Parts: sequence; structure tokens; C-alpha cells
Amino acid sequence: MGTQQTYIDEFNPKDYLQTSYVAGNGLLYGEWTDFALCHLYETFTKIVVKVTHPFTFSYFTKKRRHVGDTLLDFGTGSSIYHLLSACEVFDKIIASDLLDQNRAEFQLQDCEKKSKKLRSKVKEVLKCDVLKRNPYAPAVVPPADCLLACLCLETPCKDIGGALNATFYHAGKKRFSAMTTRKEEVEKAFKEAGYVIEKVVYAPCADKSRMDVTYYDGKYFIHARKPNCIAF
Ligand SMILES: C[S@@+](CC[C@H](N)C(=O)[O-])C[C@H]1O[C@@H](n2cnc3c(N)ncnc32)[C@H](O)[C@@H]1O
Repeated sequence: MGTQQTYIDEFNPKDYLQTSYVAGNGLLYGEWTDFALCHLYETFTKIVVKVTHPFTFSYFTKKRRHVGDTLLDFGTGSSIYHLLSACEVFDKIIASDLLDQNRAEFQLQDCEKKSKKLRSKVKEVLKCDVLKRNPYAPAVVPPADCLLACLCLETPCKDIGGALNATFYHAGKKRFSAMTTRKEEVEKAFKEAGYVIEKVVYAPCADKSRMDVTYYDGKYFIHARKPNCIAF
């Protein structure tokens, strides 16, 4: 149910989009998309308000968060929702996924539905395997300013970002397993990788009426950065 070969043989990107994101009825439409879009937008575009000198002077500096030039998205699938606010601030977006069929469908979406801006920012759609130490080998990927992963890391691991205590999800009639991740494990993984957590949000799953087609307890959003990175 969760091996890489199962993904290669059975994951249909059109079924996934239909099951997950179709307006009104998609499993992830509404609760997940609202949560993810809201936090991604805030992280990428927020105006940082800083009290420069709280006692002597009461003035504020407002600045748009500068996030860098290149964003690398892991496990993009055929989805575009999570790149919509990123394209407002990054000049170059590299999308990537394990599956040929997903990369092809993403390109199709790219032509049909994306805003002109997003289309102009996606420079490459690469093959990646997040289970490998170098997920892009043999391709050489330029250094990135931001790494993004939405609902990707739980799926290949089976045993890690976005859903807590998930066990499975459907793409059409096919069922795929997901790794059961706990809050503490998510934060520990970031810290062990040398990241400093800037923001973390957990929220319980509100709609449990569709648990026959997907199961997860809650959702999370983590914004973390390398300690020596000042831009993000
Ligand atoms: C649940 S979908 C999420 C797609 C998209 N990020 C979203 O938010 O809708 C999981 C994605 O992970 C990809 N995937 C599975 N195993 C992978 C691996 N080993 N390396 C990279 N991507 C993988 C799948 O092809 C699929 O597109």
C-alpha cells in the first residue's frame, strides 16, 4: 500500500486532484487548503512590524519579509495551491516529485490554470526521491533559499509535512499509506537537522466525517530556518 513501486504503478494524479481538491467536495479542500494557504501567505509575505526603540521613541519600522531568490518544493505532485503565495516573493521556483505522471500533470496544470506570475516563476520540474541522501542525483540543483514540503514527507516514509497521526489517504479508489507522525517527533526532527523553529502551529482535524477515505488527527505548519540564515 505504501511502497515506491505502488506509487509508480498506481498513483493517478488526476484522481488525486479530484479526490483532494475539487471545490466543495475534495478531502483537502477547505480545512487543509485554508490552513496551509493562510500560514504560507503569512510566512512569505508578512509585514514585519518592529518596535525600534520602545521607550525613547515610539516608532515602527515596517518591512516586507525578504525571503530570497530560489524555492525548492519537494513532492509537488500535480498541485499548485501551495505555490501561489511563494510566487509573489521568489524569482525562481523548482517543483519536484518522484513520479513522471505527476510531473507531467503539473506541467499541464502549469499551462491551463496557473496565474501568469506563477507560470513565469516555475523554472524547472525535476525528478526527486526524498528517501535518498541526494534527492536530485544525478541532477545538480542550485543552492536554494527556501525548502517547502506540503503533505509529502509523511507519504514515502510510511513510518514524516502537514498531517499528524495520519495513517492513509485515497487518490480515487487507490489507498496510500502515510506515516504516523507525532508533534514531538516533528519538532525533534527539525532540531536534530540543525534548524531553529520560528513558528509552529498545530490544529486538530475538524471534519472527521470522511475518515473512510483519509485518516489524520490534526494538521501542522512549521516554519524553521538555519541559524546562520538572516534572510528568512
Ligand atoms: C499526498 S501527495 C502531496 C502532493 C502535494 N504536495 C499536495 O500538497 O497536494 C504526496 C506526494 O509525494 C510524492 N512522493 C511519494 N514518494 C516520494 C518520494 N520518495 N520522493 C519524492 N516525492 C514522493 C507523491 O508522488 C505525491 O505527489
